Amino acid sequence: MKIFNNLLILFFITVIITSCNNNKSVKENKEKLDSAKYKTIEKLKIAINGETTASKKYLAFSKKAEKEGYSLIAKLFLAVSKSESIHAKNHSETLKKYGYMFSPTVSTFEIKSTEENLKNAIEGENYEITQMYPEFIKVAEDEKLPDAKGSLTWAMMIEIKHKTFYQNALQAITVKNESTLPGQYYICPKCGNTFCKQTLVDYCELCMTYKGNFIYFM
Ligand SMILES: [Fe+2]
Ligand SMILES: [Fe+2]
Repeated sequence: MKIFNNLLILFFITVIITSCNNNKSVKENKEKLDSAKYKTIEKLKIAINGETTASKKYLAFSKKAEKEGYSLIAKLFLAVSKSESIHAKNHSETLKKYGYMFSPTVSTFEIKSTEENLKNAIEGENYEITQMYPEFIKVAEDEKLPDAKGSLTWAMMIEIKHKTFYQNALQAITVKNESTLPGQYYICPKCGNTFCKQTLVDYCELCMTYKGNFIYFM
């Protein structure tokens, strides 16, 4: 009986401590972070601008590919455009948690031939994978902001997939064999993860969303 009473006391102490900690983190999240102190704020804004521009650019590239008769590449650009918009949304929501509303600025971009557009897309993804995101993730990690680190890391992991999809597309049109490319794409609505039929999984490996909730591009 004494052991039972002790366990009961221990249980209530644990509940009280957990509740206090939860209240503390909610309060911390509601406090606006000082942008002069936290470099992550600026990095999130840059990432939102980049992702918003990428989304609009790929939408334009999709239309161009359609005009040139590359319907499968048009579908790829369309699906990835959606993915980038989800990255922008996730970064924006993170920024909002830190107390900042932000309207993105879209940079200008050129629409060329689909082959050149693919090269441009590969270059953009490569920059994000090798420079931008690793640097931003390090800043968020150093400033101990796990939400920002999480959002930036998800985006980087997915940009790696985008680069591969674009490289395969470029190779296919170089050898004039677009028909070897995937005909369907699936986008995770929570993190923007990108799949084709061959790489589709039951649950998104990043955010665990079930495939039945994915956005289909058929
Ligand atoms: Fe991307
Ligand atoms: Fe996901």
